[in-house]
Amino acid sequence: MTDTTRDKLIVALDLPDATKARAAIERLGDSVKFYKIGMELAYGGGFGLVDELARAGKQVFLDLKLHDIGHTVEKATAQIARLGVRFLTVHAFPQTLAAAARGSQGSDLQVLGVTVMTSYDDSDLATAGYRLNVRELVALRAQQAKEAGIAGLILSPEELVATRTIVGPDMLLVTPGVRPAGAALGDQKRVATPAEALKRGADHLVVGRPILAAPDPREAALAIQKEIADACA
Ligand code: C5P
Repeated sequence: MTDTTRDKLIVALDLPDATKARAAIERLGDSVKFYKIGMELAYGGGFGLVDELARAGKQVFLDLKLHDIGHTVEKATAQIARLGVRFLTVHAFPQTLAAAARGSQGSDLQVLGVTVMTSYDDSDLATAGYRLNVRELVALRAQQAKEAGIAGLILSPEELVATRTIVGPDMLLVTPGVRPAGAALGDQKRVATPAEALKRGADHLVVGRPILAAPDPREAALAIQKEIADACA
């Protein structure tokens, strides 16, 4: 498997503590190069893994979805940049995007904006006081993320095509909700296969349970990479 193919697959370490995460990383071995650490693992003592993974030559996506006043987001982003992390998520509000862009300046950290949480539908937005529907708000925030100069967006496979037309070819589009054909959906409703997601314009795929809960996680990761390599050929 080439490095480019391995770089496209990000495995979500949705596990409660560093011991379990280390065991999963060990089982996956050299098949996986890119890991996502979310809030559960980070707050469960997983921050130390960032350094361990970076030293082992792995890429790290810290999915912390920052959102605070600009000053705080800028300083927090700068701290995270020093950890050797490659991707960090922030909520795609204009002040937050601009602050994260400032905080990551001069580093290799790439900031990804979360447009609208996929657990929200139009009525949730109305209840929260928004006058735009999900599609309109995703489009507005994608445009604002582009203007802020951040590296990319995290979004569901359904939003890939429309968002690519808004942001153009240069922004990174990173998508969860990826399921190999025939895999269990879990609580994911809007899913695509790896090949479909890439065809719709995704640059990286985030996959958790289809790999970590597989009888042989390494085999499952290699099968997805094979699908990625075939789709990109
Ligand atoms: O196990 P699964 O492949 O569904 O994991 C997908 C990962 O992507 C999880 O870490 C989940 O929190 C994350 N995610 C998502 N949908 C979003 C944003 C993040 O599934 N809209």
